[in-house]
Amino acid sequence: MRTQVGIIGAGPAGLLLAHLLHIDGIDSVVLEARSREYVENRIRAGVLEHGTAETLVATGVGERMRAIGLPHHGVNLRFRGRTHRIDFLGLTGKFVTVYSQHLVVQDLIAARLAAGGQIHFDVEDVSVHDFGGEAPSIRFRAESRAETLACDFIAGCDGFHGTCRPSIPAGVLMIHERVYPFGWLGILAEAPPASEELIYANHERGFALLSMRSPTVSRHLLQCAPDENPEAWPDERIWSELETRLGTDEPSWKLIKGPIVQKGVTPMRSFVAEPMQFGRLFLAGDAAHIVPPTGAKGLNLAVADVRVLARALERHYRAGASELLARYSETCLGRVWKVQRFSWWMTSMLHRFEAHTGFERRIQLAELDYVAGSRAAAMALAENYVGLPLELP
Ligand code: APR
Ligand code: PHB
Repeated sequence: MRTQVGIIGAGPAGLLLAHLLHIDGIDSVVLEARSREYVENRIRAGVLEHGTAETLVATGVGERMRAIGLPHHGVNLRFRGRTHRIDFLGLTGKFVTVYSQHLVVQDLIAARLAAGGQIHFDVEDVSVHDFGGEAPSIRFRAESRAETLACDFIAGCDGFHGTCRPSIPAGVLMIHERVYPFGWLGILAEAPPASEELIYANHERGFALLSMRSPTVSRHLLQCAPDENPEAWPDERIWSELETRLGTDEPSWKLIKGPIVQKGVTPMRSFVAEPMQFGRLFLAGDAAHIVPPTGAKGLNLAVADVRVLARALERHYRAGASELLARYSETCLGRVWKVQRFSWWMTSMLHRFEAHTGFERRIQLAELDYVAGSRAAAMALAENYVGLPLELP
């Protein structure tokens, strides 16, 4: 088998890269370890930055997102029982779109297959070879047959637990990591969200987030221990804790309960691998970095990476110029670190830290008061949340 760009991973990064390359007439093959059914139904966050939504629409895969996605013109911060709205539209002229990640994946897979794109699901034993030279290749097993994909470049879009990052020779990568002393207990409930916009709550007992997937499906998150057992949280306990942490001095406001159809705990970390490339192997998305979900940036950062990579590959094939490829990591890391900062800041401002002294707790509440009371501070949150402009060299 041969292609121009071998892509490992059919998550948002790998699929959007394949789609963008196709638009530029560049051939690719996507290799995915899981089944199509699995990746199309893997529930993840679903807040699309303004630029992400624009990219989907501009490249012809945004139709359903525009039809059923929920435009959100702001978010709410709730602390000390008071609610403070951050007006994205008024402050930045932009908004975000609530549209589940698994729907983005479905839309991209449908577009690739309709265009005759090659996506091999359920592949096994994927390994990358000779990417330090001019003729990299990917070996894998498909339907128990050993295959080799010869390519010009490899895109490692295989997520945090993939094979590409670990395949980079020892001593090359510098890893930066912060593991947080808490995780999130997340639920999906068949209940209309009790707010049209997201509510991020800082409460003495811990963080809570009211989010949603649709007008009839709520998504709620509760700060918990990083190794919390979801089974220790029967539905009644979850609803009771959400009501406490999302409590407000608005007497008319009430959380809406309903059957909980999914429950899970995710730990929380910040992680960056530098550089994001080695020879003809390029890391993109979660393969290169992880952000705490408080800023809703994981998907959006993956999109930014592959927009840079697609542009660099287009320049290589169309103009025979490889300077953008040589600067891929440097270009991406500029944004990665600004998004890491924002995600760390939102996480630090909104969660309860057992190790906090009285001083640190009051500094945290002062931070919230400042954001709630200052147009400049609210603007800083808003412009990061809707998405910083993507600087394509
Ligand atoms: N071979 C083939 N496929 C692999 C391998 C492998 N060795 N290892 C992992 N994969 C696949 C996974 O099954 C997954 O479908 O790579 C894909 C990686 O997708 P994501 O983990 O979704 O990562 P990415 O595309 O970078 O998107 C980042 O997804 O997980 C969320 O929170 C994350 O929102 C962020 C977004
Ligand atoms: C979600 O809906 O899952 C979600 C929304 C916003 C976040 C994190 C998660 O910051």
